[in-house]
Amino acid sequence: MSSDDIPAARPLRSREWFAGNDLNAFIHRSWMKNQGIPDRMFDGRPVIGICNTWSELTPCNAHFRDLAEQVKLGIIEAGGFPVEFPVTSLGETIIRPTTMLYRNLVSMDVEESIRANPIDGVVLLCGCDKTTPALLMGAASCDLPTLVVSGGPMLNGRHEGRTIGSGTSVFAMSEAVRSGEMSECAFRAAESATSRSPGHCNTMGTASTMASVTEALGLALPGNAAIPAVDSRRRVHARDSGVRIVEMVTEDLRMSDVVTRESFENAIRVNAAIGGSTNAVVHLLALAGRLEIPLELQDFAQQSRNIPLLVNLMPSGSYLMEDFYYAGGLPAVIAELGDLLHTDALTVTGRTLGENVTGAPIWDDDVIRRRASPLQEDAGITVLTGNLAPNGAVVKPSAASRHLLRHVGRAVVFRGMDDFRARIDSPDLDIEPDDVIVLTGAGPVGAPGMPEVGNLPLPRRLLARGVTDMVRISDARMSGTAFGTVVLHVAPEAAVGGPLALVRDGDRIELDVPGGVLRLEVDDDELRRRREAFVPTADVPAGGYRRLFVDHVLQADRGVDFDFLVGKRGTAVAGDNH
Ligand code: FES
Ligand code: MG
Repeated sequence: MSSDDIPAARPLRSREWFAGNDLNAFIHRSWMKNQGIPDRMFDGRPVIGICNTWSELTPCNAHFRDLAEQVKLGIIEAGGFPVEFPVTSLGETIIRPTTMLYRNLVSMDVEESIRANPIDGVVLLCGCDKTTPALLMGAASCDLPTLVVSGGPMLNGRHEGRTIGSGTSVFAMSEAVRSGEMSECAFRAAESATSRSPGHCNTMGTASTMASVTEALGLALPGNAAIPAVDSRRRVHARDSGVRIVEMVTEDLRMSDVVTRESFENAIRVNAAIGGSTNAVVHLLALAGRLEIPLELQDFAQQSRNIPLLVNLMPSGSYLMEDFYYAGGLPAVIAELGDLLHTDALTVTGRTLGENVTGAPIWDDDVIRRRASPLQEDAGITVLTGNLAPNGAVVKPSAASRHLLRHVGRAVVFRGMDDFRARIDSPDLDIEPDDVIVLTGAGPVGAPGMPEVGNLPLPRRLLARGVTDMVRISDARMSGTAFGTVVLHVAPEAAVGGPLALVRDGDRIELDVPGGVLRLEVDDDELRRRREAFVPTADVPAGGYRRLFVDHVLQADRGVDFDFLVGKRGTAVAGDNH
């Protein structure tokens, strides 16, 4: 770039608060000074917000006060003025009924917090599942220079000589207890071994997926996805990010300068190569909506075509995030994918995705496979359509059973999770291994909030017979750490009258994953009769946030965002407050 090409620096929005000598400038500076901030910090240096999702109720993010301190050191080192602020945190394991009910609420918290305050650039501290998309979505609607620092995964779990991974092993052990193979005592002992250090889930669940996808979008410094939370290099990474965000403000490198349609295509392809979570689908669709970048559900099918599964991590494979880091982490995957990506896409480093990973080696090619010997040739999330899902559904073949990818079976229908829990283990339930378990009423409106219940537990009676997987179909989501032949995100959902609501016990359902088909073998006349007789059963919340949610939530194929939150709204500075 010649000096003629460098755009004139934009005036910093923080000057609207901190410059001048009038009543308001006095108020803005003076009260900040009660924290011990010296006068020189108000001299016009960039003010960097550190958006923190620390909470003791979000154990995956409980180490974020330390992480924020590291970011601050970097910001100060680079001549910036750090200001840390909290937003609502979302702890995946604790919050009921589901964190997804609150992702959009947090995104509003983030967006309004950034816009209302003297912030010139922002570092997003993300970890547990929803904290990443919520913060990205809110920041996207503001579109300031934005950089993500993830908290990093927990260390590998080890128990009774075996490696155990967050979620994935819990689901497997829980089924082992139900089938009588594992004692409740051993199950209880595995708890402490599963989560033995700070950090988020150590499998390629939603947290690791979203951290990887963020790196692929170009929104984090290289290496962000995999450095373990407790590794000293995670602190260095945070500090480096603090330095870089100050430079980004000086360069006026905004989120929309970094993230383009090509970045989303990269993110989808990387998600395929890592065996990433189905949750990435709704989160990426919502983020694209905020950035006003066209992206559709079918893009996930098209963009992941011919992308090999390279990363051998649970739930699709064997290893965990700690192994992934030692094997080279996401830079090695990006380098190995090479020409399968848009390597010329810009990133927050100011360089391209390809430049960031030049020469990044694979240290262990069982953990990160080479393209010549992938775990699976054609990976990624498959999009299904058909009369049962006119607007689409998703399935993750790498986490499914091969013999069920083409399957026709008899429907056994459950209307909501209460119905499911009440009947699934009943000796009277007529259910066989070839049947298809259907759950309705678990979508964005129906639950509400689209909980992660799609990987429904199998009937105890069939588990005892050695059955390990069955086709399951719902309008719910599932944990990124889960596995099985599980069809999710059926749109439109049952609660708004989607065809899923019309399925009855004994109907035959065809699943054809290679063909992308999900079909209810019931003729159109009969379906029309059932539709005319359909009465919505979901309770409409009387008021409060839940009412706002069901009134405005978009369906899964549109990312489950609120209709009124789609788009960028900028960061114009509002009038003085006094
Ligand atoms: Fe927080 Fe899995 S529960 S990342
Ligand atoms: Mg999860």
